[in-house]
Amino acid sequence: MKKKLYIETYGCQMNVADSEVVASVMAERNFEISEDHDQADVILVNTCSVRDNAEKRVWGRLRHLNALKKKNKSLKLGLIGCMAERIGDEMLEDKVVDIVAGPDAYRNLPYLYDKAVDGEDAINVELTVEETYDSIIPKRMNDSISGFVSITRGCNNFCTYCIVPYTRGRERSRDPKDILAEVRDMIQNGYKEVTLLGQNVDSYKWLPEGETKPVRFHHLLEIVAKEDPALRVRFSTPHPKDIKESVVKTIAKYPNICKHIHLPIQAGDDEVLKRMNRRYTVEWYKNRVEMIRKHIPDCSITTDVFCGFCGETEEQFQGTLDMMKWVHYDTAFMFKYSERPGTYAAKKLDDDISEELKGERLSRMIELQNRLSLERNNNDIDKVFEVLVEGTSKKSEDDFCGRSSQNKMVVFPKQDAKIGDYVRVKIARCTQTTLIGEMVEKIDKPTI
Ligand code: 5AD
Ligand code: SF4
Repeated sequence: MKKKLYIETYGCQMNVADSEVVASVMAERNFEISEDHDQADVILVNTCSVRDNAEKRVWGRLRHLNALKKKNKSLKLGLIGCMAERIGDEMLEDKVVDIVAGPDAYRNLPYLYDKAVDGEDAINVELTVEETYDSIIPKRMNDSISGFVSITRGCNNFCTYCIVPYTRGRERSRDPKDILAEVRDMIQNGYKEVTLLGQNVDSYKWLPEGETKPVRFHHLLEIVAKEDPALRVRFSTPHPKDIKESVVKTIAKYPNICKHIHLPIQAGDDEVLKRMNRRYTVEWYKNRVEMIRKHIPDCSITTDVFCGFCGETEEQFQGTLDMMKWVHYDTAFMFKYSERPGTYAAKKLDDDISEELKGERLSRMIELQNRLSLERNNNDIDKVFEVLVEGTSKKSEDDFCGRSSQNKMVVFPKQDAKIGDYVRVKIARCTQTTLIGEMVEKIDKPTI
C-alpha cells in the first residue's frame, strides 16, 4: 500500500518549485500526496529563513504538527528548506522534528525517512555545487494552469543582510535540456504559464558539451518562448546590477513573454546600497529603468524594498521613498530589516534602528506605494488587456479573475470564457490591487 505524504510550503516561489521536486522524489518511493495531514505517514514542512517572522510562523506550526504524533504514533515530521539548513540540527536534537533535509538533500529524503522509522538521526544539510535535480520531473500538485521551473539554484551575491547564500549555497545553472523537458511536461499537462526561477536569473549560464558559446539567460528565455506561443513565460528575479538589454529586447520581441519585470531595489540611497553590497547605485538603477521603458513602454515594474537597515538615516530613508516615486512602481513587496545570524551585517554592522522606527518607516512606505499602485491602475482605465483566465473571483461567483501580461489582477463577468482561456478585457474601473472590466473577445494566444 502507498504511504501518504503531506507537504506544507512557506516562503518564496523557489520553495513551491522545490516542494514539487520533493513530491516527485517521494513518489518514486511509493509515497502519494495527501491533502490531509491527519492521514499522513510523513509531514514535510518546506521553510523560509529570510526574515525572523517567517521562521517564527514555522515554529508555531511545527509545534502544532508535532502534537499530531500523539494520535498517530508512526507519523514522521520533517523540516526541509532554508530553516533546515540554518537550525535543523538543533531542531532534531530537541526532537521538534524527526527528519531534516537542506535544499540540496531532497534526493536523500526517502532514505532519511527510513532512518527516522528505524529511530535513527535523519539529517542531511550538506550543500553541493552539483545538485540541480537533473532528470527529476517535478510532480505538479494541483490542477493549476501556472507553474514554476527553477533555472538556477543558490546565490553568489552575498548581499550583506541576506541569509540565502548560506542556506541555499553557491549558484549553479541547470541544463537547458532539463529545463525544456519540464516545460514540455507542463504544456502536456495543460499548463498555460511558466515562471522561470532563480535568485539572480541574469547570471544563468550553461556551456553545452563540445561548444564554445554558453547559453545565456536571454537565449533560454527565447528557447522557452518559442516552444509554444500559447504558453506565457515569466521570470523572477533579475538583479539590477546584471539585467541586460538583450533580455529586455527578447521580452519585447515575443508576445508570450510577459511585460513585467520585478527588479528589487532594496534601498534608494547609494551609501545604504553600498552597505548592503548591492553593487549598483541609484543612478545605475534609474538607467536600467529607462532602458526597460525605452524598449517596452507598457512594461510594469515591481520591486522588493525594505527599511531600517543598519545605520539608515531619515534622509537615506527619504531617498528610498523618492526612488519609489521616481520609478512609480506598479506594486512592491515591502519589509523592515530583520537581522539574520551569520550574515555579514549581523557580524559587522549595528542593527541600530529601533523596532518602533522600523515600523513607522514601513507604514510610510506602504502608504506611499498604495497611492502609487492606485495611480498606476487608474491609468489603465479604458485600456484593453490580454488576460489568462485563472479561476473564479474570490468576491463573486459570477466573475472570473486572471492576470494581465503586466501581472495585474483583472476581474470580469464570466460570459462564455473558461479557465485557461486567453481573453481581451476592457478596463472600466479599478481598486489599488485590481482592475475590473468586461470581456471583449477570446484569443488563442498572447499577441502583444
Ligand atoms: N530583512 C528584511 N528583508 C529581507 N529580504 C532579504 N533579507 C532580508 C532581511 N534580512 C528581502 C529582500 C529580498 C526579499 C526576498 O526579502 O527585499 O529581495
Ligand atoms: Fe539574497 Fe542578494 Fe542573493 Fe537576492 S541576490 S538571494 S538578496 S544575496
